[in-house]
Amino acid sequence: MIVVDDLSTGSEANLRDARIQAGDRLHFIRATVSDVARTDLSEAPSRIFHLAAAVGVRRVMEQPVQSIETNVIETSAALRIAGRHEAPILIASSSEVYGKAAKLPFAEGDDVVYGPTGVVRWSYGCAKALDEWLGLAAWRAQGLPVVIARIFNTVGPRQIGRWGMVLPRFVEAALVGRALEIHGDGLQSRCFADVRDVTYALDALLGSADAAGGVFNVGSDEPITIRALAERVVRQLKSGSALVHLPYETAYGPGFEDLRARQPDLTRIRRAIGFAPRIGLDQTIADLAQAIRTGAAHGEAA
Ligand SMILES: NC(=O)c1ccc[n+]([C@@H]2O[C@H](COP(=O)([O-])OP(=O)(O)OC[C@H]3O[C@@H](n4cnc5c(N)ncnc54)[C@H](O)[C@@H]3O)[C@@H](O)[C@H]2O)c1
Repeated sequence: MIVVDDLSTGSEANLRDARIQAGDRLHFIRATVSDVARTDLSEAPSRIFHLAAAVGVRRVMEQPVQSIETNVIETSAALRIAGRHEAPILIASSSEVYGKAAKLPFAEGDDVVYGPTGVVRWSYGCAKALDEWLGLAAWRAQGLPVVIARIFNTVGPRQIGRWGMVLPRFVEAALVGRALEIHGDGLQSRCFADVRDVTYALDALLGSADAAGGVFNVGSDEPITIRALAERVVRQLKSGSALVHLPYETAYGPGFEDLRARQPDLTRIRRAIGFAPRIGLDQTIADLAQAIRTGAAHGEAA
């Protein structure tokens, strides 16, 4: 098993459990996917999960060029590696691909709607959409088994809040009694799935012969407003933290546009692999808090 990561936002310490399970079979290469595409691998991959990306709203806003290039060029490189080895590949796409589509829930065959190119945040969804086009083109033109996973908000132990991810930001703040910063009025809603449910789904999708050439929503379909999420974190962790509202312009600069609601239609993935999320939000919050308390969330030894 080969893991490729340039550690631009990730941490090698996150592989600790995988190393315990895989032992000597796990080879870690610190490099970009493009670097690896230019070399010969020590073992031919039998299947590939392409998750490497520039992730997080804050990163997209702060490093717009690098974020677009990483998301498009590295996916193209991952597809070249898969093509060379004729290996089935899963491409991690995002619910951001739906842009600001108004019809809920979002189904895979729906039209996508973006804002103007002058608004940076839409570049992330467009780059991920281009990744999907690239993957589906390789499937059509070369017969490469490509599966697209359109992942919705995913949360869990070891996720960090530094790049704008809301749940770890809230939990980190609640644990030290700092105010939880809610962007806007907090009535925007999202559906949060636990990373352990999501990774189970990714594995099952790539293992399903019928999934090749398909696009699948992956996540939870239970919405919660960001204000309710903050209240839940404070209550569950018995924190004395206050909740404060921060205008979007203050958090992300002028011209930031957020979505009021985002919710997947899970019919397609349910039919394909019988997927249903099993880990509830309370469990995820408890495990994330535990990981932060022990330092595991920042890649430190627990
Ligand atoms: N977490 C979510 O809520 C969510 C939602 C939708 C889609 N996704 C997608 O799932 C995938 C994984 O996201 P995540 O939340 O685990 O983020 P993450 O930042 O933890 O993982 C991305 C990893 O890619 C690595 N990386 C970045 N550029 C690289 C490059 N050029 N070469 C090699 N490695 C590189 C980073 O160091 C990091 O470890 C991404 O493709 C993301 O777009 C995640």
